[in-house]
Amino acid sequence: MKKVYVIGTGGTISSAGREGSTTNYTNGVFDVAALIEGVPGIKDLADICGEQIINISSEDMTVKDMLAVARRIDELASDDSVSGFVVTHGTNTMEETAFFLDLAVSTEKPIVITGSMRPATAAGADGAMNLYESVALAAHPSAAGRGVMAVMGDRIFDAAFLHKSNAFRVDAFTGGDAGCIGYMQDDVPFFLQRSELPHTARSGFSAGGLTGLPKVETVLFYVDADPRILTAAAEGADGLVLAGAGGGFAGRAWEPVLKETAGKIPVIRASRTMDGVVTRDDYDTRVGTVPGYALDPLKARILLSFALTKTRDHGAIEDIFKKYSGL
Ligand code: DGL
Repeated sequence: MKKVYVIGTGGTISSAGREGSTTNYTNGVFDVAALIEGVPGIKDLADICGEQIINISSEDMTVKDMLAVARRIDELASDDSVSGFVVTHGTNTMEETAFFLDLAVSTEKPIVITGSMRPATAAGADGAMNLYESVALAAHPSAAGRGVMAVMGDRIFDAAFLHKSNAFRVDAFTGGDAGCIGYMQDDVPFFLQRSELPHTARSGFSAGGLTGLPKVETVLFYVDADPRILTAAAEGADGLVLAGAGGGFAGRAWEPVLKETAGKIPVIRASRTMDGVVTRDDYDTRVGTVPGYALDPLKARILLSFALTKTRDHGAIEDIFKKYSGL
């Protein structure tokens, strides 16, 4: 039997609330051992080892926590008897940890992140099936070498395009234009496509030697947004991501402040639409910003943090963004 490690970090999947209801629940009630015990048939899929690293609401995740998960996976992956990994996680920031692990972890063994939209005490809770399918995927030979994947609601998503796009429905995740990379039906993965992007062992980054990451902030542009938001966010930051309108743009009132900021720290232009590509524009030449290409603002923030561990050169940073955008 394949050995799969389930690493618990918390989230709704580990929560309990009023019987039947989906709201006002408490995170971190069930540990990973209890989660595994609660899933019918899961022990027939693999030899499962549970390990609780933290048990928190995912809005409280920190880079330190993400690094701890990445390091533990790398450590366990060097054991030949371990086939794959499942990380249980709150759905609210799952896309950030998924992409962080996609860059930081250095194994080709399958890594699947999952969670639930409903607490275990809700009528129609979704956590058990998500965990069942995730363990099955992590144990499956065809899942290796695909980078970090998420399994939510019978769909498999690539970490680079995973996005929570709904606040409460069970079917809350999307892969944007990239769609899902496959389906899970019980213990069977149906792979529809393979990511072209560098990831895990080929990402060019690793968790080894890192104690933290450079500080990168994100600012959202909207009509009449006060440019002082940008100034405040840039204060003490090593880099900045602009979640701009449409193709990643901010209005004229922001241009002088953007230019001044981009003269001090790298500023990535990404799109608040969370989809499509932001490519080099005259705007970048004028203002000094760097286009984020296929990365949405959340992923751009993480990629810029890692990129800044290697370089502060705008051209080199742009090349890294191109590489992560299939160029
Ligand atoms: N507290 C939220 C989180 O951990 C709950 C959301 C969820 O897991 O679905 O992200």
